[in-house]
Amino acid sequence: MTGVLITVEGVEGSGKSTQLLRLSEHLRRLGLPIVVSKEPGGTPLGRDLRTLLLTRHPSGEAWCAEAELLLFYADRAQHLAQVIRPAIEAGKIVLVDRFEDSTRAYQGAAGVPEHTLDRLHELVVGRLKPHLTLLLDMDPAIGLQRVEIRNLSMGDEFKETLFDERRLEFHTAVRARFLAIAQAEPLRVAVIPARDAPSLVEESIWRRVAPLLRNAGFTVE
Ligand code: TYD
Repeated sequence: MTGVLITVEGVEGSGKSTQLLRLSEHLRRLGLPIVVSKEPGGTPLGRDLRTLLLTRHPSGEAWCAEAELLLFYADRAQHLAQVIRPAIEAGKIVLVDRFEDSTRAYQGAAGVPEHTLDRLHELVVGRLKPHLTLLLDMDPAIGLQRVEIRNLSMGDEFKETLFDERRLEFHTAVRARFLAIAQAEPLRVAVIPARDAPSLVEESIWRRVAPLLRNAGFTVE
């Protein structure tokens, strides 16, 4: 049996982490073999890249768009080699918080052209495709408010704010790109309304995940 790759995507504050935790706990209770990971930062080296990408450098210098893009792909290449591909080959259920669609949505919204994204995709990801992508969709104005509250309750050293600090228009463009991907690939991408109560969101997610796992030969009852 080969494994299953499920990715979770969405704008800032859409509740990805909460839902990923709930889903992973559910699958663990069922005794299923799971691996939970995230991008950027799904490997020890990737965690260093995550810091470089998401925290402001003391010099004040920011990555140019191309460098930023290559760092996200460097993180992804390492993650695929060390975590994702081996786990799929071992027949596991791999849950990843953000993957390629985030690059298409965020770096696309920042101005990276489609053909550049296609070329890097070809180089790093090739033919691998998530079996299911859960797009937690919500108005970024609400998501950003949630992030602000979360950041206020954390110490400065835990803040990863570079993307949170971008303007609302940027995040609105990111959401539109996510939705366009979902429209283009309705079989892969499930749009989950993320403003509902967490337990309702969890139920919508389960309605999409359970049949997929059943079809892949896992016992989900
Ligand atoms: P994440 O840890 O999921 O942040 P949050 O909890 O706020 O959703 O993701 C970190 C940030 O990195 C997020 O702002 C989106 C951004 N990102 C990209 O711009 N491109 C990418 O390819 C990925 C994976 C993330």
